[in-house]
Amino acid sequence: MDDALLANRELWDAWTKIHVGSAFYDLASFRNGERAIRLADYELDEIGNVEGKSLLHLQCHFGLDTLSWARLGATVTGVDFSPEGIATATALAAELHIPATFVEANLYDLPNELDGQFDVVYTSRGVLGWLADIVGWATTVAHFVKPAGFFYVTEIHPVAQVFENEGVTAGELRLSYPYWSHPAPLRFEVHGSYADPTAPTEGLVEHGWDHSLGEIVSALIDAGLRIDFLHEFDFVEWPVDFLVESPDGRWRLPAGTPGQLPLFFSLKATKPLAGA
Ligand SMILES: C[S@@+](CC[C@H](N)C(=O)[O-])C[C@H]1O[C@@H](n2cnc3c(N)ncnc32)[C@H](O)[C@@H]1O
Repeated sequence: MDDALLANRELWDAWTKIHVGSAFYDLASFRNGERAIRLADYELDEIGNVEGKSLLHLQCHFGLDTLSWARLGATVTGVDFSPEGIATATALAAELHIPATFVEANLYDLPNELDGQFDVVYTSRGVLGWLADIVGWATTVAHFVKPAGFFYVTEIHPVAQVFENEGVTAGELRLSYPYWSHPAPLRFEVHGSYADPTAPTEGLVEHGWDHSLGEIVSALIDAGLRIDFLHEFDFVEWPVDFLVESPDGRWRLPAGTPGQLPLFFSLKATKPLAGA
């Protein structure tokens, strides 16, 4: 792993410790079943019934979404490069008696570390910005999709990533960051986490990459997948400084903003059967 990846892994190990106790992840309600399924309405609709299906969750953090799919009947495997995330997910699965396999691996190394193919390959919310190489990502994704199986991703829209998100007011769209892929990562000192902005994170650094929507879609097509749909949404699933929180807990442009922006997306892509 290079320095940027090692620093990101250190950050995710630290964030995992913070996140397990955060109101954002609300582990208590996941444990006691009040919020047994921690998945978004649109992804449940768009992915459909997973009962009896094998599901690979890439970048699974400490496993709440992975275990949600297991509670819905999927046979799940979660992967993440954070030892802390994988240890927490494994312990949680055992504690809650939910069958699940968790694998610690850098996404790009996964084809050498995990066998098999899956009916569903899934990844969601805050994943692509940690990845340097979107073509390598799509190759890994396609490698693990069974013929006739599908890949699903839901993520912040690359257009939403070009605006400054710190020290701006609601509705202030200050164009600041690249839209297309760039080889060198953007580097930021970390102040707290998206789940707990006040958490102590001194000395931690984040390295991030951008990828345009066209690059993401084209990489998946080039890797052999067929796009079933690409849906764009007017909200972000977590706090963003230039947006305001709506009553449904999602973050949107302030009421009265002239014009519109895509802020989140979901995409489903199928692997064709050989010869199809
Ligand atoms: C925001 S989380 C996404 C998880 C999920 N949306 C959630 O909220 O639980 C991003 C995850 O990507 C993982 N990650 C970042 N870079 C990675 C890499 N190169 N290989 C594998 N996992 C990686 C981090 O450890 C983190 O758990």
